[in-house]
Amino acid sequence: MDGGNGAEAGREVVIRVRDLVIEFGRNRVMKGLNLDVYRGEVLGFVGGSGQGKSVLTRAILGLLPKTAGRIEIFGHDRDSLSERDLRLLERRWGVLFQNGALFSGLTVKQNIQLPMRERFDLSQRFMDELAMLKIELVGLPPSAADKIPSELSGGMVKRAALARALALDPELVFLDEPTSGLDPIGAAEFDRLIGTLKKTLGLTVFMVTHDLDSLYAICDRVAALYDGKVIGEGPMETVLASEEPWLRAYFHGERGGRLIASRSLRAHGAEGRD
Ligand SMILES: Nc1ncnc2c1ncn2[C@@H]1O[C@H](COP(=O)(O)OP(=O)(O)OP(=O)(O)O)[C@@H](O)[C@H]1O
Ligand SMILES: [Mg+2]
Repeated sequence: MDGGNGAEAGREVVIRVRDLVIEFGRNRVMKGLNLDVYRGEVLGFVGGSGQGKSVLTRAILGLLPKTAGRIEIFGHDRDSLSERDLRLLERRWGVLFQNGALFSGLTVKQNIQLPMRERFDLSQRFMDELAMLKIELVGLPPSAADKIPSELSGGMVKRAALARALALDPELVFLDEPTSGLDPIGAAEFDRLIGTLKKTLGLTVFMVTHDLDSLYAICDRVAALYDGKVIGEGPMETVLASEEPWLRAYFHGERGGRLIASRSLRAHGAEGRD
């Protein structure tokens, strides 16, 4: 592979999507989508249910075929890479999928070791040490290592899934609704963890979320998907100030409006979540 390009306004673009079209039969889900994700940022990707957030994630990961357009990761056009180069590139990211976070029959430790086993030939002892490091990194107790997912709380399962996403020390992680199903306290703790990992590991994070709290708490920028395109993109304040009708309904409608109101109360001295 040759060196990546991608300096735009002084910032390295880690994911660049251009004119992306994806169709399932007659269902055109992506209709010419453009998106940039910069190194070191947490990008929050929002959109209504069924709009194609998971489809985009899977297309970037190369798990779904596209009809047209270009997807670049780390400056490399996916289409121009050999299978071997793609495999090398895949080591540089980790994924927390929307569903099926962990294999139910395997312990947390075994789940975390799966990506290691797939890509490297390491001794069991070394993999055990690595798995314990990841378990500590995501704030799980060492005793979680030998438990199977059904023995853990929802929040612990999410952390374990994150530990698996971090198994190969990625530069980039994809999180598809990581806080869904968690109570507000659990979600806030998970957000804080992502924020800390971003800072300490210099991670770039592509995060699909419906969680307005997460968007406020940890996202550097937000991109909103509607009708197959990104209809708004930028820091939360920019997106909030947009006159675009879907964005106004999403952020200033009943649910979003309540959150925004409570945020501004907090800004004036009341108790805050963070
Ligand atoms: N493998 C597939 N085959 C056919 N259609 C698919 C496939 N995957 C997704 N779709 C369709 O693509 C559209 C977008 O689905 P997607 O799962 O990306 O939505 P989403 O934005 O992630 O929604 P949610 O917020 O509910 O997770 C839907 O119409 C869905 O039915
Ligand atoms: Mg989805």
